[in-house]
Amino acid sequence: MDTQHNSTGRESNQGAATVLPASGLPIEYAPTSHQSYADLVASTWRPAEVFNLKGQALLKELVRYGTLAANSYNTQPWLFAVEENRISLMPDFRRRCPAVDPDGHHLYASLGCATENIVQAALAYGLQAIISIDPAQNNIININFEPTEKQQKALFKAIPERQCTRSIYDGNSVSDIQLSRLQGISKQDYINTQLFTTHDDLNNIMRFVIAANSAKMQDPAFLEELKHWIRFSETTVTKQRDGLYSPSTGNPKLPEWLGKIVFKILVTKNAENEKCREQTLSSSGVIAISSEQNNKQSWINAGRGYQRFALQATAFGLRHAFINQAVEVPEVRNQLAEFFGIKACRVDILVNSPSYGV
Ligand SMILES: Cc1cc2nc3c(=O)[nH]c(=O)nc-3n(C[C@H](O)[C@H](O)[C@H](O)COP(=O)(O)O)c2cc1C
Repeated sequence: MDTQHNSTGRESNQGAATVLPASGLPIEYAPTSHQSYADLVASTWRPAEVFNLKGQALLKELVRYGTLAANSYNTQPWLFAVEENRISLMPDFRRRCPAVDPDGHHLYASLGCATENIVQAALAYGLQAIISIDPAQNNIININFEPTEKQQKALFKAIPERQCTRSIYDGNSVSDIQLSRLQGISKQDYINTQLFTTHDDLNNIMRFVIAANSAKMQDPAFLEELKHWIRFSETTVTKQRDGLYSPSTGNPKLPEWLGKIVFKILVTKNAENEKCREQTLSSSGVIAISSEQNNKQSWINAGRGYQRFALQATAFGLRHAFINQAVEVPEVRNQLAEFFGIKACRVDILVNSPSYGV
C-alpha cells in the first residue's frame, strides 16, 4: 500500500450494491459481517480467486467487479438485476447529486464505468458480453453473455488496483507508445479522446478548471452536497460504505462531528484551486473524453471509454485523477469544447495524467 489515498480505496471501502434477482426482490450485495475497516478494504478490493464459478454465483461475482468501478462522489449510484445469463444495470436515482450533476450525466457515465468492468471481468470467466441500452426504460443497460475463450487480460487484472490518485505527480513524461495505447483503448462509438501534454495546454486547461472550481466553491448547494458525501472517519466509512473518504481528498481523518464543523475551513476556494493547479501541472498531461451526441447512451459510452483508459493506465503503473470541475459548469464546459476545437461535442470527462506517482 502506498501513501497516496484514493477516494474509497485501500484507505476506505466500497458501497453496498443492490442486486435484484430475477424474482425482483432486492438483496443487499455487500459484506454483512461487522468487519474492521482494514478487513473490509481487503475483502472489497480482492482479486478473484476461482475461475470456475457458474450461474448466479458467477453473475454476482461479475457484479462485484462492476461495483469496483469509478463513480461520481463514490455514490454507488447503481442497481443491478441478475437474471439467467444477463446482468442489467440501472440508475439508482436515490443517489443522484442534483447540485453537481443536474442532468444525470455523471450518474450515467458511472454506469458506463461499471459496465466496462463487467465486460472485462466476464472475459476472464469465458464470457463475451453483448451490450444493449434500452432508451424506453430509463436507458437500462442489458449485458447478455455468450461463451468465448477464457482470457485474463491486463485490464481485468487491473480492476482491483485502479484508483483515483489526487496527488502531486513526478512530472516525468510518459512514452508516446503508452500515450497512444491509452488514447486508442478509450475509443468508443461517437466518443473522442484528446491528449494534451504541452505546458501551454496544461496552463490553459487549468484556467478553465479554476474558473469552474471558483464558481462551484461559491455555490451553497454544491458545498452542502459535497459535505453530505464526504466521510471524515473510518467508522463512518465502515458503516456507510460509500462517499468520499476525507484523506483521499487531501484532508485529514477526523471524528465525523468535527469534520462536518471544520468542513468550511478545510474546503475553501483557494485551497481547492491550489490543489488542482499543483496536481495538474505536475502531471504528464490531460486527457479529455467527449461525446459527439450529447445523450445518455453517449454518457454511458464515455464512462466505458474512461474506465478502459483507467485500467490500462493502472496496468502501465500510471496514476491519474479527475479534474472534472471544468465540465460541471455549463458555460465553462462550452468554452472548453471550443478551446479543444470540438464545439459541437460535450466534454464528458477530464483527467489529469497519466503520470507516475511520487
Ligand atoms: C463521471 C465521474 C465524475 C467524476 N468527477 C470527479 C471530480 O470532479 N473530481 C474528483 O476528484 N473525482 C471525480 N471522480 C472520481 C470519483 O470520485 C471516484 O471514482 C470515486 O470516489 C471512487 O473512487 P476510486 O475511483 O478511487 O475507486 C469522478 C468519477 C466519475 C465516474
